Amino acid sequence: ESGNINIAIDGPAGAGKSTIARRVAEALAYVYVDTGAMYRAVTWYMLLKGIEPEEDQKVLQTAQNMVIELKPGVDGQKVLVNGEDVSDQIRSLAVNAKVSRYAQIEGLRNLLVTLQRQMALRKGVVMDGRDIGTTVLPDAEVKVFMTASVQERARRRYNEIKDTAAITLEQLEHDIAERDRLDEQREISPLRQAEDAEFLDTTNMSLSEVTDAIISMCRTYGKERGRI
Ligand code: CDP
Ligand code: CDP
Repeated sequence: ESGNINIAIDGPAGAGKSTIARRVAEALAYVYVDTGAMYRAVTWYMLLKGIEPEEDQKVLQTAQNMVIELKPGVDGQKVLVNGEDVSDQIRSLAVNAKVSRYAQIEGLRNLLVTLQRQMALRKGVVMDGRDIGTTVLPDAEVKVFMTASVQERARRRYNEIKDTAAITLEQLEHDIAERDRLDEQREISPLRQAEDAEFLDTTNMSLSEVTDAIISMCRTYGKERGRI
């Protein structure tokens, strides 16, 4: 028994999940798994192949034959599809606009959830997404549901954009709100706070404050169990 635990982080777009999950993983020498990157990789590939989200059987068959790899790298995690590095492509506006449609497909979710569970079998994983605490890792030892106002989340995302002529802050806020709506209202494992998750509103919190809060939850868990 290593004493390692699994940490599940869920919440809407721009809440700070991936940045904070990466920092927590670094601090604890854990593995970070970005499940959104897997849905994005599938979406990028379907757009390349011209397969629409409505063609759910075709999406599933095609996804079953994809090799998706998540590799920790010096400048963040790399995402490979069939050996090709698509880390930048999966963050495009085209993928943003479509990902939540593909993410509604039940068969595709089952496929990715199975892979995600395999990645967490040995513990010592920080996993972020929408359904980690509720569906993927319901037994995760520490669960966090992180959010912030939609204005703040859009502002954070806008600050990341290099080509600010490509989209306005208003459009970005609209796109994020629409993606949240689709993620919250879908039938299969919608975006929802697990009953046993800690709620964190990060609107007025810095990255270090949020990171420290989660590490302290892990320490508390460890002390209570005599672990870590
Ligand atoms: O980084 P951002 O918050 O913009 O999104 P992401 O985490 O990369 O996830 C992109 C999309 O994938 C989400 O809007 C969801 O539609 C879907 N997703 C999901 O359905 N379940 C997950 N566990 C992770 C992502
Ligand atoms: O993964 P998710 O979509 O939840 O958010 P993210 O990509 O980790 O965070 C979006 C942006 O907000 C990043 O540039 C973070 O550095 C920034 N951020 C922040 O400034 N303050 C926070 N408390 C959380 C995130």
